[in-house]
Amino acid sequence: ISRTFVAVKPDGVQRRLVGELVRRFERRGLTLVGMKLVQASEELLREHYGALRERPFYRQLLKYMSSGPVVAMVWQGLDVVKTVRTMIGETNPADSRPGTIRGDFCTDVTKNVIHGSDSVESARQEIALWFRPEELVCWEDAAEHWIYS
Ligand code: GTP
Ligand code: MG
Repeated sequence: ISRTFVAVKPDGVQRRLVGELVRRFERRGLTLVGMKLVQASEELLREHYGALRERPFYRQLLKYMSSGPVVAMVWQGLDVVKTVRTMIGETNPADSRPGTIRGDFCTDVTKNVIHGSDSVESARQEIALWFRPEELVCWEDAAEHWIYS
């Protein structure tokens, strides 16, 4: 069982997609362990997207990500990093199949609705960056025995 960091980006919040996206992860059987609405600071976003700072779209990316609130979440489950990435689809929505989040809800490579950590290591770093330890809740999942063998 592992954890991943997920953020509904400002376009997802503005378009009232938060409920729909949470619903998809819940129905998959993943466990929500942290969630908050955040107006991300420039500093936080620089750290979050540090690996992309040399890319030509970096300024545009920071401007977009700070253009409104995001919903930051931590989801837990078996192979959850990979599962969530598969549910999200490809970076470019045009490459994302229908049924994936980006394949269903967007067309633009910047305004692509949602973020999910791309590896177990980046998940660990991103969770630590966006959440204080006491904001993550361990709770007894009553459905666990019906989801895992
Ligand atoms: P995230 O879940 O947000 O990290 O997306 P990703 O892992 O699918 O892509 P990546 O980490 O490579 O890029 C982060 C974000 O930068 C993307 O979600 C896009 O919003 C933006 N981005 C990535 N590649 C491009 C690009 O080629 N052009 C533009 N304009 N934006 C890009
Ligand atoms: Mg990424």
